[in-house]
Amino acid sequence: MGLEDRDALRVLQAAFENSGAPQADSDELIRRLYTRWFALDAAVRDLFPPELGPQRAAFGQAMHWVFGEFVAQRAQEPVAFLAQLGRDHRKYGVTQQHYESLRRAWYSTMRSHLIDSWTGAVDDAATQAINLITGIMSGAADAEDGPAWWDGTVLEHHRVSRDLAVIRLHLDRSMPYHPGQFVNVQIPQWPRRWRYLSPAMPADPDGLIEFHVRSVLGGMVSNSLVAETRPGDRWRLSSPHGGLHVDRDGGDVLMVAGSTGLAPLRAIIMDLCRFGENPRVHLFFGARYPCELYDLRTLWEIAASNPWLSVSPVSEYAGDPPWAGDYPDVQPPRGLHVRQTGRLPEVVTKYGGWGDRQILICGGPAMVRATRDALIAKGAPPERIQHDPLVG
Ligand SMILES: Cc1cc2nc3c(=O)[nH]c(=O)nc-3n(C[C@H](O)[C@H](O)[C@H](O)COP(=O)(O)OP(=O)(O)OC[C@H]3O[C@@H](n4cnc5c(N)ncnc54)[C@H](O)[C@@H]3O)c2cc1C
Ligand code: HEM
Repeated sequence: MGLEDRDALRVLQAAFENSGAPQADSDELIRRLYTRWFALDAAVRDLFPPELGPQRAAFGQAMHWVFGEFVAQRAQEPVAFLAQLGRDHRKYGVTQQHYESLRRAWYSTMRSHLIDSWTGAVDDAATQAINLITGIMSGAADAEDGPAWWDGTVLEHHRVSRDLAVIRLHLDRSMPYHPGQFVNVQIPQWPRRWRYLSPAMPADPDGLIEFHVRSVLGGMVSNSLVAETRPGDRWRLSSPHGGLHVDRDGGDVLMVAGSTGLAPLRAIIMDLCRFGENPRVHLFFGARYPCELYDLRTLWEIAASNPWLSVSPVSEYAGDPPWAGDYPDVQPPRGLHVRQTGRLPEVVTKYGGWGDRQILICGGPAMVRATRDALIAKGAPPERIQHDPLVG
């Protein structure tokens, strides 16, 4: 029966229940799996960052979903997902030998972890599932001719506010992506700690690319990006993901950007500028302090020549902190944009639920959740709301 045995597959899926939750049994399973894998194949350990907690969570959540699809006897989406994961994993330097040692470690760990429910049927399903998952990933990686990563050099680093930087790079070769997508980035200050960043401009045939970064409290990579990045740094970027987009025939648009959540929305807006006519786009751009509305001038310049765009700046506090004077003045000429004070979810929903709009929300996970919930509470249909995956 193997992959057709839904009961056996349910046993395997249950082993990955609650992955990422503290003290989940699945975390112990995956911890043992990695320990066994690294013992079998010591070179694999060097591919991973020192702390493996987030990795265990990502692996377990992916497995829970994949086994759930197998239980439902759906193949198309998990095969597409695993193939993409395999192509993306090329950037970590994964080889066929790593897949081979993973297969062995995975099978024996599953077997010893689930020993009480390990029947012949579960054994068949586990063997076939592990072979299929690793086979799809390694096969797709082998079949892919495109680059595994794009290297680039930092040209400019602008500290636009205490916690914010605009960073421009020149890639050795141009990277194709859709405006609104995000990429995985590795910087020299933190090898093997890949983080997602969203290009703030559409793909450029000459390889120029721009990122907007905000340092988060206690954050490893974002603080280096903001404080330590220097021209000449060599970055590695990997393939683009995400589907944020504006359907130009889909009606008017509401965009809500919290801080550097502006980046992918600005890329979409810049791309729309190619067309003479567009749906109306209303962008709320929010930050804690007025001085952190770092890209208001660019937005003002775009809106000045594109009547379909209107921009509402929002800041949580009415005044600037004492350190504002240490950074460039970001305000466009007075009176052009009436700034509102308040938090984005409340300010945006003052005008209703925007139910007739395509809605794109971008920013930190808490801001995205709060804005989405507030809009839905005011009647916005959830299926009209787009945002990136909520991580963190
Ligand atoms: C799809 C996607 C696109 C992204 N695009 C951008 C971008 O264009 N610009 C940008 O500056 N960042 C962006 N991020 C966030 C970025 O990838 C990192 O998560 C963030 O910079 C923190 O990394 P770190 O290493 O500094 O923090 P870590 O050391 O990984 O985490 C430290 C602490 O910060 C918390 N944390 C992690 N991420 C955030 C966050 N976004 N907001 C608030 N707290 C957080 C964690 O829960 C943890 O407690 C994006 C994230 C995703 C998922
Ligand atoms: C030879 C096999 C593999 C190797 C060497 C490998 C290695 C890695 C490394 C180094 C990372 C980055 C960790 C980090 O940034 O913290 C990663 C991420 C990840 N891996 Fe694997 N992996 C392998 C197989 C798999 C398999 C079989 C799955 C599940 C189907 C998987 C799922 C994931 C997921 C979901 C992530 C996080 C997202 C991403 O970075 O793509 N990996 N892996």
